[in-house]
Amino acid sequence: MSKWTADDIPDQTGRRIVITGANAGLGLESAKQLARRGGEVVLACRNPAKGEAALAEVRAAATGAAPSLVALDLADLDSVEAAASEISERFSSIDVLMNNAGVMAIPHRETTPQGNEMQFGVNHLGHFALALRLLPTLLKTTAPRVVALGSIVHLGGKIHLDDLNAERSRYVSWTAYSQSKLACMLFAFELDRRAKAAGLPLRGIAAHPGYSSTNLQSSGPLAGGFHPINWVMAKATPLVAQPARIGALGQLRAATDLSLSGGEYLGGTVLFGARGYPKDAYTTPRARSESMAAKLWDASEELTGLRFADAFATTS
Ligand SMILES: NC(=O)c1ccc[n+]([C@@H]2O[C@H](COP(=O)([O-])OP(=O)(O)OC[C@H]3O[C@@H](n4cnc5c(N)ncnc54)[C@H](OP(=O)(O)O)[C@@H]3O)[C@@H](O)[C@H]2O)c1
Repeated sequence: MSKWTADDIPDQTGRRIVITGANAGLGLESAKQLARRGGEVVLACRNPAKGEAALAEVRAAATGAAPSLVALDLADLDSVEAAASEISERFSSIDVLMNNAGVMAIPHRETTPQGNEMQFGVNHLGHFALALRLLPTLLKTTAPRVVALGSIVHLGGKIHLDDLNAERSRYVSWTAYSQSKLACMLFAFELDRRAKAAGLPLRGIAAHPGYSSTNLQSSGPLAGGFHPINWVMAKATPLVAQPARIGALGQLRAATDLSLSGGEYLGGTVLFGARGYPKDAYTTPRARSESMAAKLWDASEELTGLRFADAFATTS
């Protein structure tokens, strides 16, 4: 296949897909495409008004089961627990968890209610906790998947195991963001390995959207007030970035292409990955380090108080 497009999304009738941050950008685009192909989409959003507006858009696109909305603030592990409980109570099973939501380059160090650095907390730890809590519901289907959002910034990313929350070192917004995105990728690959080792049908797949025009480039970077570089980036993005409908194809392929076997990293490969239709994309050796993935996993279990073995045990 030369070019994987939205037309290649197979019929999603009978599949239920939970998407975090589904009210904007790539999450909303993914929700509409999956609903258009008959999937039942559950939008997990932090802002009720934005969530309702997105729900109306997804409903208008849907050709199958009605979409629905769940409240989720990934920064707060209590909110993650409440959202996972609500999802598990309302829905008998989930086929795909698309860990899409994210914040980028928050100028000054902020912390989550549990005291974790905000980008690491939202982008990685919140999604880690959500996936582990939803594992029993995912495992009620025959071929469940967890999709994680990486980024081309992982190329310069490093996991600071001794200071994951930037407590001792100087906080640098892009360093924290690239660590968080690398963590999302390591998580997907490690989840895939652990699931296979345990004989579970679950698969972990990562995707990246290149450089896509969404709210990401303005919401985080400009949150701390005016900064010339961030202002230029926010203004330039709609002119130079690819549209969200192309950027979302990687995560859509990760969620729906049944020929994938787990552990893939899909995204555009043109202009160092900034653009293009999804195919196997380059990862750094750091992103494929099994020892680093295992150490990050242990640290994430510690920081969330959740263990894969326990989540998996409740299903057997
Ligand atoms: N756009 C790109 O070029 C690019 C490149 C590489 C990777 N990515 C990744 O793609 C994913 C989607 O980003 P996007 O580009 O679509 O950005 P976006 O338009 O800013 O959308 C981000 C979504 O995440 C939600 N979100 C943020 N913090 C949250 C929290 N604490 N709890 C729950 N939801 C939260 C936002 O909700 P609100 O609307 O309420 O803020 C929004 O729905 C992210 O993981 C990002 O890192 C994007």
